[in-house]
Amino acid sequence: MELLDAFVARSLEEVRFWSRIMKEHSLFLRLGFRCEDTVLINEANHFYATFENIESRANRFTLNEDPNVIRRFNDEVHVAVSHIWLFKRKVLGLILTCQLPGANNFPLLVDHVSREANYFRNRLMELNTGRLEPLPDAIIDENVFFLRIMADHAKFISHLLDPSERKLIDQANQFSADFDQLLFQARDLESMRPQSQTVPLLDQFLDQNRVSVKSLRDFKKTARDLIEACRIKSIIHPLLADHVFREAEHFLFIIDMFENSLTGKTAHQ
Ligand SMILES: [Fe+2]
Ligand SMILES: [Fe+2]
Repeated sequence: MELLDAFVARSLEEVRFWSRIMKEHSLFLRLGFRCEDTVLINEANHFYATFENIESRANRFTLNEDPNVIRRFNDEVHVAVSHIWLFKRKVLGLILTCQLPGANNFPLLVDHVSREANYFRNRLMELNTGRLEPLPDAIIDENVFFLRIMADHAKFISHLLDPSERKLIDQANQFSADFDQLLFQARDLESMRPQSQTVPLLDQFLDQNRVSVKSLRDFKKTARDLIEACRIKSIIHPLLADHVFREAEHFLFIIDMFENSLTGKTAHQ
């Protein structure tokens, strides 16, 4: 019974977080298309509506919901996420073959949002099959994934700020270099496994990553507030600034969950 409760809670948490993220990706992609790309714009609007619907249904479910209902819901979400992943990869192909000259989505951004869709899809699969990775593997794999996501965010912020915002661009570039380095460290730990998967090494790994994610999270929060108050020059949508801030918060939540599992405070997931 306890396991089933955990299944419903974890599922709702993941779907609520990531369906909002997928909905916002649809908006960002749409904003980057040219006005003549009406077919792509319609597709993006369609995904926006799909994930808005999923998000509001996920918010209406309670923790007392029948796990079988949630399992079917996860399957349905999985199909929608597979479709948006395909759409993102198609858009990436169009950009990289120069079929959308003048459109405003960076290829790395489109690749990035497709990686997030793929991550969400895998999480749904793991939840529904109950096949979770062993904790030491999950710690390394999730950090490799999220450190790259954070490094990308720093690069997007740097490139979407107005070139005259020299100080902020400099800070964003420093975060980019910091996270590239953390990502390389994570990959080193990855190639040294299983021997690298000792509790002290994994604990130190989490501690070190947490420090940098916290300071990036604070930088994003400041950037978001400044953008909302129209105090800096950029082509960053305020919602994009908030979006990357929430993803950093989510990573911190995951780091803390791993830390607790590693030190035996609570059960893993
Ligand atoms: Fe995202
Ligand atoms: Fe992201």
